[in-house]
Amino acid sequence: MNVLCVFLVVGAAMSVSGQTLAGPKHDRKVVCYVASWAVYRPDPGRFTLEDLEPALCTHLIYSFAGLNETTNTIKSLDPWQDLETDYGKAGYKRLVNMKQKYPHLKVTLAIGGWNEGSPRYSNMASKPETRAAFIKSVVLMLNNYKFDGLDLDWEYPTKREGKPYDRENFVLLVKELSEAFEPYGYILTAALGAGKTTMETAYDLTKLSRYLDLIHMMCYDYHGTWDGVLGANAPLKGVNDNDTLSVEWTVDYLLSHGVSPYKMVLGLPMYGRTFILLDPATRVLEYGKTPVGSTGFKGPYTGEAGFMGYNEICVETMNKSSPWVYHWHEQSSTPYLRDGEKVISYDNGRSIAIKVKYAIDKGLGGVMVWSIDTDDFKGNCNETDAYIDFVERHKRMANDPVVMKAVKNLNIPDVSLVGSKGPAYVLQDSQLTLRLPTPKYTNYALMQTINDAVSLAVEEKRILDEVKRLEGDNEVKNDDDKGGSSSVKGSLMCLVLTVMVMFNFW
Ligand SMILES: *[C@@H]1O[C@H](CO)[C@@H](O)[C@H](O)[C@H]1NC(C)=O
Ligand SMILES: *[C@@H]1O[C@H](CO)[C@@H](O)[C@H](O)[C@H]1NC(C)=O
Ligand SMILES: *[C@@H]1O[C@H](CO)[C@@H](O)[C@H](O)[C@H]1NC(C)=O
Ligand SMILES: *[C@@H]1O[C@H](CO)[C@@H](O)[C@H](O)[C@H]1NC(C)=O
Repeated sequence: MNVLCVFLVVGAAMSVSGQTLAGPKHDRKVVCYVASWAVYRPDPGRFTLEDLEPALCTHLIYSFAGLNETTNTIKSLDPWQDLETDYGKAGYKRLVNMKQKYPHLKVTLAIGGWNEGSPRYSNMASKPETRAAFIKSVVLMLNNYKFDGLDLDWEYPTKREGKPYDRENFVLLVKELSEAFEPYGYILTAALGAGKTTMETAYDLTKLSRYLDLIHMMCYDYHGTWDGVLGANAPLKGVNDNDTLSVEWTVDYLLSHGVSPYKMVLGLPMYGRTFILLDPATRVLEYGKTPVGSTGFKGPYTGEAGFMGYNEICVETMNKSSPWVYHWHEQSSTPYLRDGEKVISYDNGRSIAIKVKYAIDKGLGGVMVWSIDTDDFKGNCNETDAYIDFVERHKRMANDPVVMKAVKNLNIPDVSLVGSKGPAYVLQDSQLTLRLPTPKYTNYALMQTINDAVSLAVEEKRILDEVKRLEGDNEVKNDDDKGGSSSVKGSLMCLVLTVMVMFNFW
């Protein structure tokens, strides 16, 4: 798209926005899980739906509903929080009502989760009659509360006392749900486990990818105290070539087993895993080797051994007199904090930005966060290093003549034409310049990083794809003809976009 087009589309969007607020400017999915029990955390970690700022999400998922195993029907797990009856807090309704202010949102209901276990889902999925009862109850529930769809969080088919036949039955369940949803236009998604054996035994990925609208990959909990040794919660790469426990391994496995990239949504943790070293005097920490105790420590708000929300972790990095020391672990592309025998492996703005870039480079549909209620929603922290890897790559690109040619072909705008807002690659004094997000002391630092990193990663990929094309077709003639026809297409596309935005098609 050229500069004029951007102006037209943005201008049209602003002129029709009225009372409602717009979502992200990029076109990728940002799926936000909301843990409804976060309301029971002590202040300032207590998170209510009034604290939820959904502008940077495209999808909200209310977590979790459960399964009544006698009737095989979906049920609220916390009627007082979820429902309106008996002076309840009406959580379902309040979350769905966010669409009034943010019409871009899709709001769905998740069923399952770790605490629900596997057997009751295994039983329900095992017979046509029980699946039918379940599906009927789901459609009723979605109709009643005006949700946009369902997210299946069965953890996991065939595992945790599930049965071998769950793999096939899960496909049947998904297929029958998707057929029942069709008349209503409901979306059907599922959260899938990212470990090698889970992916191998629990899921027929090719078939699931056919019937599900989106696949939310739970690319976290790769390591924890259960290993007996230190490890990263969500490493981008494994500790060696044979290590299957990494984001890259999971994504490559899915892509080579029939999952469409545009349906795949990469899960990002807004939390870390905590460890206590067996030998507090350990000098050099080695992931996969350094022994740890069988339980980790708790965070002050979430109160669960071995787990800490990003909002609990980041305040330690801000506190000058805190004993915690920050480290960057290169191999996993994640940070950790250490205070003597205590270690926290987690994700911050920098590691999140790296994973976002990875998702965009792989052509995935977008990213998901577990969960938005442990982002720094109060704005107590400063994320300062989030883009240092983008800056490094930009330095290498900046003086490359092929990059300059690509920039010219793509009509990268001059900084004087695009105003001062937003992160972007722009021209400044004829140089390719990376304009970072204006640093601001803001809440939802990780959500903000995701939003900005998606835009930057999309622009960076566009430039580097053009570089590849230039390097690839050095000898191809008639370059000008191609350019001509693609710019005609670009103008048509621009017209269509502008009209669609004016008529509020999204
Ligand atoms: C399951 O549903 C039945 C029928 O509505 C109800 O009587 C029963 O209490 C429910 N069981 C649970 C555990 O919610
Ligand atoms: C990886 O696995 C191969 C085959 O099992 C083995 O020969 C090799 O030593 C392993 N490499 C590492 C780093 O563990
Ligand atoms: C900073 O850390 C010190 C040492 O642990 C602690 O006493 C103090 O309360 C912390 N300050 C804040 C604002 O959390
Ligand atoms: C956060 O960063 C900004 C800009 O660097 C700075 O002005 C502000 O004092 C920082 N806030 C905290 C709490 O350190």
